[in-house]
Amino acid sequence: MFAKPKTAGAASSAPAGAPLLSVQDLAVTFRTRNGGVPAVREVSFDLARGEILGLVGESGSGKSTLLTALMRMLPRNAEITDGRIGFGDADLASLKENDMRRLRGGRIGLIPQRPMTSLSPSTSVGRQLRWHLDGIGDGELKELLTGVGLGTVLDRLDGYPFEFSGGQLQRLLIAVAALGKQPDLLLADEPTTTLDATVQAQVLKLLLELRDRTGLSMVFVTHDLGVISQVSDRIGVMYAGLLVELAPARAVFETPRHPYTRALLEAVPGRGRRGEPLRTIPGSVTGANRLPGCPFAPRCTAVIDRCREELPEVRRVGDALVRCHRAEEEI
Ligand SMILES: Nc1ncnc2c1ncn2[C@@H]1O[C@H](COP(=O)(O)OP(=O)(O)OP(=O)(O)O)[C@@H](O)[C@H]1O
Ligand SMILES: [Mg+2]
Repeated sequence: MFAKPKTAGAASSAPAGAPLLSVQDLAVTFRTRNGGVPAVREVSFDLARGEILGLVGESGSGKSTLLTALMRMLPRNAEITDGRIGFGDADLASLKENDMRRLRGGRIGLIPQRPMTSLSPSTSVGRQLRWHLDGIGDGELKELLTGVGLGTVLDRLDGYPFEFSGGQLQRLLIAVAALGKQPDLLLADEPTTTLDATVQAQVLKLLLELRDRTGLSMVFVTHDLGVISQVSDRIGVMYAGLLVELAPARAVFETPRHPYTRALLEAVPGRGRRGEPLRTIPGSVTGANRLPGCPFAPRCTAVIDRCREELPEVRRVGDALVRCHRAEEEI
């Protein structure tokens, strides 16, 4: 089952060797009645073999758009308008659809945000599993499903998707994408959000074991900072389509550099003092990706005039890459 050798240094937090994935200046735009919506802008990052990159950011920040662009499974009204997605020798941004299809079924796997939409409602779950896992034997299927805590559904695989809970369907898709196909790159969009705490812990443990055993690389999207701190080597913080901070996980939690990252961490329940009201980040992200300067400027407590006029470049501060005019300052 787990045939691939572990890549040297797979579990280390620092990217080493040639990256598996190298994204440069990626832009994705949605065509809407009100003009183009730049959902992902100037996004650049590398992903090492065996590395887990966690992506956070509030709703609408472009996390799913980024993942679906990497997989070239964008909705019809969206297109990659700029940039490069280096994967081995290929540029996924311009690869022919036939070649892309081959990669999707093999070296790159996606765990989508909404499990229901990736299963046919009128075909039994068992049939769909066997179809996705081409030629899998009964023993292997049993091992696969037990591995994601689904031993209890083994005797009702002739049921249809609506007869399963959202969490069960999500685990079925995790089993297919992560275990069954053994990809080199797994793109996981909120894979544990619908699961209860026990099953969530079980699935996270499984994904980490898989990474250690096979050298699998992962981009992992979640709203849950607890989850992201458990699984990520590095964390990318998105805001209004931009990657505003990219740093080793520990650095993000200990010395967050971007004012948005700080606001996000302060908004986590339990971090404030007892009796203090729950903090939220004032303002809203709506329309921010059309602003001329920094999209976070209207909500930022450290804003200066320049922020409203000029989009900040990415700056390196210690281990972190930060898109803020004041990144080097103690603010
Ligand atoms: N089908 C669509 N048509 C037009 N705009 C869209 C479409 N899907 C997404 N968008 C826009 O693209 C931006 C990014 O959306 P995306 O779904 O990538 O965000 P997200 O970070 O995954 O949010 P969430 O945490 O809610 O899943 C948003 O501004 C959203 O309004
Ligand atoms: Mg999303």
